[in-house]
Amino acid sequence: MHRFAPAILLLLALACGRSRSVVEQPAATGPTPLQLVVPAWAQDTAHALNLPYDNPLTVEGVALGRKLFHEQALSGTGTLSCASCHRQELAFSDPRNVPNEQGFPRNSMPLFNLAFAHYFFWDARALSLELQAFEPVSAHQEMNSDWNAVCRNLQAHPEYPELFRKAFGSTHIDSLRVAYALAQFERTLLSFNSRFDRWHYQGDAEALSAQEIRGFKLFTGKGNCADCHMPPLFTDHRVVNIGLDAETVDKGLGARSGVAWHMGRFKTPSARNVAQSAPYMHDGRFGTLEEVVDFYAHGVHTAATTLDAHMEPWVKGNVLLSASERADLVAFLRSLSDPGFLADPRLGAPE
Ligand code: HEC
Ligand code: HEC
Repeated sequence: MHRFAPAILLLLALACGRSRSVVEQPAATGPTPLQLVVPAWAQDTAHALNLPYDNPLTVEGVALGRKLFHEQALSGTGTLSCASCHRQELAFSDPRNVPNEQGFPRNSMPLFNLAFAHYFFWDARALSLELQAFEPVSAHQEMNSDWNAVCRNLQAHPEYPELFRKAFGSTHIDSLRVAYALAQFERTLLSFNSRFDRWHYQGDAEALSAQEIRGFKLFTGKGNCADCHMPPLFTDHRVVNIGLDAETVDKGLGARSGVAWHMGRFKTPSARNVAQSAPYMHDGRFGTLEEVVDFYAHGVHTAATTLDAHMEPWVKGNVLLSASERADLVAFLRSLSDPGFLADPRLGAPE
């Protein structure tokens, strides 16, 4: 993060036509600092929190972000909020796809544990949550609005100016402050309380069934899944080609960078809460987890030119999964859901 922070500050300042002064640290009498509560087992050297120094979490900033996340005034028609396509009960995802600007379908992504993430969007095109938040508001296929209009509406609203004052020290509202507040709220979407977590990290031997345990052993063993969907976050933060197609149409990261070895690469999604976030893959091509596991069992295009090195076991033909093993894997994936997170009233629409 720190490597990109200066560039991000500059970009943000440009996007809003304002100087850097709006990102100053809150005054001593300002908003109340908020500490993210993450279980000790969920942080290791490969999975550290990635919090920007220029947008510290505060109680007031998070509360404002939560309200903005559910705010329909962010959309051109006044009928869509972020929550319309990021529904809490579906792990903040949505069954619908939205075409990207090249017209390729993109599956709405689930939102949780983003405080650990380094790249955002399927093609990793945003390098921070702050930068990510600029896009949906103005994207034609998403909220199709205009930042000037959004800021004007919020400024004229009976409650927002005061909420911005509490979060950022003055009643002034601009796109940067909206994006910062949204990012703060999104960083509080933490999910670490699945049955798997109770079994694996908290020593509750009863929390998983025998079938789910067999599935976990396949996930970390013969299936080679954990090479990329690495516990505890169940992602490796990489952008890779898993051989969904022999020749990808949507080039993913490659369409952004133009680099040949980036073609067909997409962000590794977390396997947590995956039972809720159907459909699957960047284009939502699979409707069920069974279809996803069938793909890994016998659908991988091993000749794909940019196939990731971690797909080597498939190239060698080593990932042979019987029907009952595939069922075990699906059962395990379902044990990664966190019902408390999916229904936590503190993360839903504010009163
Ligand atoms: C019309 C549906 C829609 C709306 C409205 C919407 N999103 Fe999204 N969101 C998507 C889709 C689709 C993607 C994946 C797009 C892609 O990768 O090209 C996405 C991706 C994201 C990601 C990336 C997650 C990751 O793991 O990389 C974040 C964060 C996000 N949205 C937050 C927001 C916020 C904040 C808002 C409101 C300002 C919002 N979204 C509004 C559909 C929507
Ligand atoms: C080389 C890294 C890698 C390996 C190995 C791997 N995955 Fe994936 N997985 C990914 C990536 C990347 C995607 C998204 C691909 C895309 O959309 O183009 C993905 C997508 C998924 C999804 C869909 C998630 C969603 O939100 O859409 C599931 C479920 C999944 N993988 C489970 C597994 C299982 C089970 C295994 C083992 C049999 C496995 N993965 C092996 C990288 C990997």
